[in-house]
Amino acid sequence: MTTSTSPLLYIETYGCQMNVNDSEVVASVMREQGYATCNAAEDADLVLVNTCSVRENAELRVWRRLAELRTLKRKNPRLMLGVIGCMAERLKEKLLEQEQSVDLVVGPDAYRDLPHLVSLARAGQKGVNVELSREETYAEIAPVRYASNGVAAFVSIMRGCNNACSYCVVPYTRGAERSRSAQSILREVQTLADNGYKEVTLLGQNVNSYRTYADDGKTVACSFAQLLEEVSQLSPQMRIRFSTSHPKDMSNDVLHVMAKRSNICRSIHLPAQSGSNRMLALMNRSYTREEYLDRIAAIRTILPGCSISTDLIAGFCSETDDDHRQTLSLMREVGFDFAFMFMYSERPNTKAARRYRDDVPEEVKTRRLNEIIALQGELSLKSKQPYVGKPVEVLAEGFSKKSKEQLFGRTSQNMVVVFPRGSHNAGDCLTVTPTRCTSATLVVE
Ligand code: SAH
Ligand code: SF4
Ligand code: F3S
Repeated sequence: MTTSTSPLLYIETYGCQMNVNDSEVVASVMREQGYATCNAAEDADLVLVNTCSVRENAELRVWRRLAELRTLKRKNPRLMLGVIGCMAERLKEKLLEQEQSVDLVVGPDAYRDLPHLVSLARAGQKGVNVELSREETYAEIAPVRYASNGVAAFVSIMRGCNNACSYCVVPYTRGAERSRSAQSILREVQTLADNGYKEVTLLGQNVNSYRTYADDGKTVACSFAQLLEEVSQLSPQMRIRFSTSHPKDMSNDVLHVMAKRSNICRSIHLPAQSGSNRMLALMNRSYTREEYLDRIAAIRTILPGCSISTDLIAGFCSETDDDHRQTLSLMREVGFDFAFMFMYSERPNTKAARRYRDDVPEEVKTRRLNEIIALQGELSLKSKQPYVGKPVEVLAEGFSKKSKEQLFGRTSQNMVVVFPRGSHNAGDCLTVTPTRCTSATLVVE
């Protein structure tokens, strides 16, 4: 129970959706110890910074934040400061040397050990656990949805990654891939439905390789397609999303399940990374441009009207202007609805860092990224225009950024819609007709 004397925990989360969900697991582990969550580092007894290592900038942001927290700690020496997540895993004890105000360093598979490490830290010893696990999925820990809008929630279905994309640090920070039991996933989604949630996003670095095995350790007990179908059958009112799909594992089975079940959202995130076969091979993505386009064609055939989003990297090792033009041409050919676009950032100890030279000059990377962003702006606008003047179904998630008179929500295609609040509330599913759009938003005036 939370009382006024409960110690207070503040968690600050950087990085991907998996980190957001991990922070909810951490809140649950610490609640068992009597900690309640609070909304500001200034109020807290324990601050945990859940970190990301995917690009250098992500780490630089955390270092800047740790410097601020150091000042806060000087004013309040009782404050305990922990670094958790991917940077904790990547840097391990080195983190303690570089930032002495840090009391504990805890990797993504060691969150059950947090109470013990916090008590060590309280006793004046630095607590470190960066052990990775082959089994940990936190299956039976019920995440505390402390920052949730009460409408949409993330559910992790697996952890780690078994791919070896040459640029990527995630396999090092998150360890080997492992899938969580289907029963525990279904139980969690049912609980969310019972608590009024209207949307879940199933999370994994490569959800299409989700797989559990029968007792013999060989027969597949549950594939991703089966899991998706079962989750979608729990409640017809619950919308289901999933992320991320890897093009090499995105099977037609999943598309057929989506076609059958209308509550699975018409939106697929399929990171392409590059349009050049030479780059895809160097990136070790295990598919060619042609194979990627084959998956796009399958989506278009089996799921007409499904939106497709992607991730793109500009300026990977040895990328030429011609490689870059192939990325632009892939973007046009697919007509992505949305994209996350990044400049290549070399990560220590990855295959790319060890074997290839990060030889595309910064200004060339910037120019290429800007061209990608500009083109995606056009494509995003074009993808929204057909919805103007047509009724769309939207799940309201909360107030718009601009005004409490407006709500925002998303369509099945994951397009953001802003509309007058009227008598509606977050959690309502309603039909509205956009009157205009920008490249990012459909607007009802
Ligand atoms: N598992 C997911 C994504 C993980 S990281 C997948 O395979 O698609 C999210 C995105 O960050 C990646 O898709 C990639 O576009 C980008 N990214 C990863 N490492 C990067 C690096 N070193 N530099 C720039 N972008 C990177
Ligand atoms: Fe990184 Fe590739 Fe794994 Fe995604 S699939 S997390 S990009 S190694
Ligand atoms: Fe970042 Fe770790 Fe996610 S490196 S992108 S927080 S898995």
